[in-house]
This record gives sequence, C-alpha cells and structure tokens, in this order.
Amino acid sequence: MSSDTLSITDNRTKKTYELPITDDTIRTMDLRKIKVNDQDFGMMGYDPAFTNTASCRSAITFIDGGKGILRYRGYPVDQLAEKTSWLQTAKLILDGELPSKEALAAWEQEVAADGMVPSNFHAMIKAFEPNAHPMGRLIAMIGALGTFNTDSKDVHSADVRKKHITRLIAQMPTLAAWGFAHSRGEKFIDPDPSLSYSANFLTMMKKGGDPNYVAHADVVKALDVLFILHADHEQNCSANVMRSIGSSHADPYSGIAGAIAALYGPLHGGANEAVLKMLKSLGTKDKVAGFMKGVKDGTAGTRLMGFGHRVYKNYDPRATVIKGLASKVFEIVGERNPLIDVAMELERIALEDEYFVKRKLYPNVDFYSGLIYEALRIPVEMYTVLFAIPRTVGWLAQWEEMIQDKEQKIARPRQIYTGSAERSI
Ligand code: CMC
Repeated sequence: MSSDTLSITDNRTKKTYELPITDDTIRTMDLRKIKVNDQDFGMMGYDPAFTNTASCRSAITFIDGGKGILRYRGYPVDQLAEKTSWLQTAKLILDGELPSKEALAAWEQEVAADGMVPSNFHAMIKAFEPNAHPMGRLIAMIGALGTFNTDSKDVHSADVRKKHITRLIAQMPTLAAWGFAHSRGEKFIDPDPSLSYSANFLTMMKKGGDPNYVAHADVVKALDVLFILHADHEQNCSANVMRSIGSSHADPYSGIAGAIAALYGPLHGGANEAVLKMLKSLGTKDKVAGFMKGVKDGTAGTRLMGFGHRVYKNYDPRATVIKGLASKVFEIVGERNPLIDVAMELERIALEDEYFVKRKLYPNVDFYSGLIYEALRIPVEMYTVLFAIPRTVGWLAQWEEMIQDKEQKIARPRQIYTGSAERSI
C-alpha cells in the first residue's frame, strides 16, 4: 500500500477505500466512490463556510496563520511595505516577479494614463444621495463601468484581460474620490497622470475642498504602505466571490462589483469602519473594562471588532506594521489621536484575558487602520473603500489565476437537502 494514501473504512458496508493524498489533501470527489449500493449517489464532504476545503491551487499569497506569516509571491509583507512602492508590489502580485526598473516605469505610466472614467459618471455619481454609503455607491459604479467596457467580456483573451486589469486598478481611485467629493458637495478633480497612484488619489479626494492641496510625501508613503498591506489575502470571502463570479466567465467589472459587496460586510473589510465606531462610542480608557466584560457575556451586543481571524491564530503581521505606521502618521499630522489609548487598552486586556487567549483572538488588519485614516481626515464611511482600492489588485490576480487554471470549472457547491420529501397538492 502506498504511504501517500488515506484508508477509509465504511462501517456501513465494512468496505475499505484507499484515497490518494497530494499536498496533504484528499480530493473530495474521491469520496464519491464510497457508496452503500450502486444506486447511492456517493459520499460528499460537508463544509459550511469552507473552513477546511481548498478550492484552488494558488501561487499568489502564502499565510501561516499559526506563525503570523503573510507573503506575496514569497516576499514577507513587512519587507514589501518597507522597501517597495505600491505599484511595484501590485505588479509583483499580478505577474509573480518584482518588475525591473523599466517595467515598473512602463506600468506606472500605463496606470496613470488610464485613470479617467467616461464623463457620464459625473451625472451618475450626482444621482446618488450625498449621504449614500460609499461602498454601495462603488458597487454600482463599478458595475456601470463594465457597461462602458463591453470588450471585457472576452475573458479568454489574455490581452483583453490585461487591458481591463490595468483599467480597473487605474479607475477605482477616480470613482472612489469622485463619490467622496459628491458627498461633500465639492468639485470632481480629474486624475493627474504626473502624480503617483496614492498622491493622485489623495489629490482627487482633497483638492475639491482645498484648491491648494498638495499631498505630503510622508502621507503618500503611509498610504502606499496601507495599500501594500491590504493588497491580497488568499482565499478570503471577497476573493472567493471574485473567483466564483469569474468562474461563470462574467466580465471582471461584474466580478469586482461582487467582491466589493462581499468586502462591505462588517465581518470582512467593513470591520475597519466598525472598529472606529466602537472606539468612538467608548471614547475613554475607563470604559474599556466594562465593555470587554459585555463582549464576553454577550451583553455588549457586539464582538470586539478588529480582533480575531479565520486564518491567523497569532498576531496579524499587518496589524504590527499598521500599529507602527499609526505613530508615524500622528507625528506627520502633528497630533496624536486620543482613541489610540482606547485601542491599546482594548488590546492590552484582550491579550491577557482568558476568553481571548483561549480562542487565539489577536488584533487584525482593521484594528489600527481606522485611526490612521481618521488622522488623515478621511471620514469613517470611506474606510472600507480604502480597503477596496488596493484589494482590487488581489482580486484581479486571483481572477487571472483562476481563468488560466485548467482544473477550474463553474463554481457550484453541493447541498444536503433538508426539506420535505416529495409531496402532492
Ligand atoms: N470578539 C469576541 N469573540 C470573538 C471574536 C471577536 N472579535 N472573534 C471570534 N470570537 C469568538 C467567537 O464568538 C467564537 O467563540 P465560541 O467558540 O465561544 O463560540 C470563537 O471566537 C471562534 O469564532 P468564529 O466566529 O468561529 O471564528 P471565524 O473564523 O468564523 O471568524 C472573524 C473570524 C474574523 C469573522 C471573527 O473573528 C470576527 O467576527 N471578528 C470581528 C470582525 C473583524 O474584525 N473582522 C475583520 C477580519 S480581518 C480583515 C478582513 O477579513 O477583511
């Protein structure tokens, strides 16, 4: 008997089956041969929320949740945050290698040249209520952008995919910034191809309200770092949606709109907004102990937002970088956000408390990011949009990989039917 197999004995029939093991994994389709008789459909795996099911083979992002490791294409995320620019890391995630100097310059130019959205978007964005949630608006705008890019439906052409990957990355900040300007009743600022990606985004957001606005180089670097940290996270909820939509060969604009919708939820990207609201509702350190008690016994009516992760059972490496970055940003803007004390007290108690320790709950990427956005005077409703912009790169890399993967088919899980047996009226 080969040692790379799993032997399963079905006690209903006393038959033993041998299933091949590859990469520490069995193929659940191999379970299908386990049957009680010839009419039996065969055994399936039951895994609500995919907690132990690999849905693809992927070479993009590696996470070791136990050790708190996150790497894009093999490079630790903290090194990329320190040593690369945002578009350099984006290109790495998309292509698998860090670009040469020339390739990076060409890519920066391509993205910068494609930032302008069709002029129809002026009227479309203005049709939204100024206080509409920016994520709901962004979902609609990206879906709409697809209708101006009908050639993107040709998902089997590598050239077409490449063109729309660049376009989506280039135009996402424009739609996000124009939505922001509309919510404040300010002028829409056109993208400026002479600026870096992050500087251009900040300028489009801020210049409508302050014609003399020039993005501070350190703030631009801080935003680059935040973008790098949020770029990809392997098979998370929204990446899974992107792949699932893409598996029906829908165009990437539809896929990205769906992925943004998944990110919007408070258990996913929406947690950054929820964290800041939680910190503000607490306001001061003395409220923290009572709140934590309420989180544990359920009377607070909420989880500790920004804590816990499906994959990390250790400190999220992104949270470590963001915590350090927060102090730097406070220095740049010349004021320390007092809510950092509330956050640090929450963290201190959680890291010592048996409830959190036992469940391996640590700060995640969303715990400190909101404090930085607040210091940059970005309103809380925009926080998840600031997550969606860089994650677009990850979603598109996951989509491209899925399209090229010969093993992939339309995503279609099975179910265990629990309804009535056949009835007649
Ligand atoms: N506060 C209090 N208890 C928690 C928390 C939390 N933040 N997270 C998990 N738990 C408890 C949970 O109640 C459960 O306890 P018990 O075993 O007694 O029932 C146990 O820990 C395991 O939780 P789970 O819900 O089975 O874990 P999961 O892997 O399904 O959920 C999570 C992961 C991120 C959804 C969850 O930890 C959570 O809701 N965190 C708060 C929201 C948040 O910060 N989300 C951002 C995630 S990182 C960025 C991103 O993904 O976009």
